[in-house]
Amino acid sequence: MDKALLEATAAALVAPGKGILAADESNGTMSNRLEAVGLESSEEVRRAYRANLFATLGCESAVSGVILFDETIRQTMDEGTPIPEYLASRGIIPGIKVDTGAKELAGYHGEKITEGLDGLRERCAEYFSMGARFAKWRAVIKIGDGTPSEACMSTNAHALARYAAICQEQGLVPIIEPEVLMDGTHNDKDCFVVTTLILQQTFEECKNQGVHLAGALLKPNMIIAGKGCNKQTMREDVAASTVECLTASVPHDVGGIVFLSGGQSDEDATAHLNLMNSMDVGHPWQLSYSYGRALQASALRAWAEEGSQASQAAFAHRAKMNSLARSGDWDISLES
Ligand code: 13P
Repeated sequence: MDKALLEATAAALVAPGKGILAADESNGTMSNRLEAVGLESSEEVRRAYRANLFATLGCESAVSGVILFDETIRQTMDEGTPIPEYLASRGIIPGIKVDTGAKELAGYHGEKITEGLDGLRERCAEYFSMGARFAKWRAVIKIGDGTPSEACMSTNAHALARYAAICQEQGLVPIIEPEVLMDGTHNDKDCFVVTTLILQQTFEECKNQGVHLAGALLKPNMIIAGKGCNKQTMREDVAASTVECLTASVPHDVGGIVFLSGGQSDEDATAHLNLMNSMDVGHPWQLSYSYGRALQASALRAWAEEGSQASQAAFAHRAKMNSLARSGDWDISLES
């Protein structure tokens, strides 16, 4: 394992003022998102939309890396440059989603186990040769009646650590993503408890399996009530309890924290990050973003309704807002 390379990549991904664009939606998810704005999905439509995002002038000041899907890492920009090569030429690190999706966990109706370990070593080697320097694997944890089960948490934590170890062996910084979903009626206390459990189990597995934490990033959810909960969490409380939870359960030598947005509104995702980065309470890591929907939702709508330039303008705006949130310098007045 090349620890120096992994640590340098991890540090570059959480460089001040920068964060990650998650553009690694599987074809099924991307098709749903395109159809939701009235567009038909095809390989070319997905390429054109994403290539346009990546070509946004100046976005490299807010985007340290982009997570790609297998289809996209093999595609080219409009003028023919391979996408990973193009991103690298702009100083943006190409990354790759390497899990093959969350599938039904046998014996535990409604719970999921993320698959993709078979052949992972060979796939990582290929992605590295194509220019990828980091990877993502997302586990999905659902709070509900009697869930998550111990089986769901332990199998996902084990798989996350196995994935991370293989990535590091192949020179890719693993983004470890145990996502506690916002779907459901649970409150923020339930989210705190379950997030604590899955983080502790995940890092226990990482320790058992020799994962080099300084060369890995954690992509956690924030501590927030479920979308169906009748008491939604105040922004200040999201920020305070998220920092409290992470500080208690995440080893302090992890290379950095890059939050997912998980269905939060664009402005909530930015405001929460901004609050965390302006708190007096210290934390041992860079707190950054690896947003999918919160960086792309407005850009995708604009792409469908107004076209290329409007989409780039929407993306540039969200990227700038989140970049400012890295240092607590975002303000609501900047949104208009
Ligand atoms: P969201 O920010 O839309 O949650 O997506 C981030 C991601 O990559 C989920 O795996």
